[in-house]
Amino acid sequence: MAEFALPKNSKIGKGKKFEAEGAPENKKDFHIYRWNPEGEDNPTIDTYEIDTDECGPMVLDALIKIKDEVDPSLTFRRSCREGICGSCAMNIDGTNTLACTKAIGDVKGDVKIYPLPHMKVVKDLVADMNKFYAQYESIKPWLNASHTPNANAERLQSPEDREKLDGLYECILCACCSTSCPSYWWNEDKYLGPAILLQAYRWLADSRDDADGERLEELEDPFKLYRCHTIMNCTNTCPKGLNPAKAIAEIKKLQIEKKG
Ligand code: SF4
Ligand code: SF4
Ligand code: FES
Repeated sequence: MAEFALPKNSKIGKGKKFEAEGAPENKKDFHIYRWNPEGEDNPTIDTYEIDTDECGPMVLDALIKIKDEVDPSLTFRRSCREGICGSCAMNIDGTNTLACTKAIGDVKGDVKIYPLPHMKVVKDLVADMNKFYAQYESIKPWLNASHTPNANAERLQSPEDREKLDGLYECILCACCSTSCPSYWWNEDKYLGPAILLQAYRWLADSRDDADGERLEELEDPFKLYRCHTIMNCTNTCPKGLNPAKAIAEIKKLQIEKKG
């Protein structure tokens, strides 16, 4: 009979526990995934007791407190602290979201934190985003007006056309949606995933861009676009309230129109 075994480092071991000083009245346990792929050890879940009366309100505040006061080796990305840069995306309480906009008070019970799912881990909560950014580059995310005569002149946009970018330009490329998408989990080397497809649609929807033909041709591929099976995890998880599944549907509609 065939025997199957998980790779050694997929087994998560019991980690360390860091107890809070004194006996805080409002204590919360943070269970955090820890792994250094350069070492020999398997990942662990370390537990940090945090006095929430001595901590800011967001999960990112707790992570910063842990790093500053308890365990400087804890590794995570963050920058803006305002839900703008997308760098603190991680899996909190079972959902991909931004640590800086997720309130500790919104998590019932202990807070469980993992890196974004199905991504290679650089260290602890830091996911390897290289492939994701390469996919972003592949859709040429810049204005292409090469077919417009006098392309260097000012290009005006009506308020109605500008409105078509609402719900698209706000995307901060955090990858919460793509890493919640089962189709992306299994085909991340070929399927572009919801974040990149929403970005692709952002340029298709821009009245100043005139490269729709080339853009649609590039996307006309059984894997790049058509692996979306409308499971909707992407839209349900987006911390900015965007709707990547709708953007994907709009691209499919344009493909049909193009075929006439
Ligand atoms: S669509 Fe939402 S979840 Fe996806 S990358 Fe953009 S902001 Fe993040
Ligand atoms: S709707 Fe499409 S892109 Fe969104 S989670 Fe489902 S399969 Fe993935
Ligand atoms: S730190 Fe920038 S989005 Fe969270």
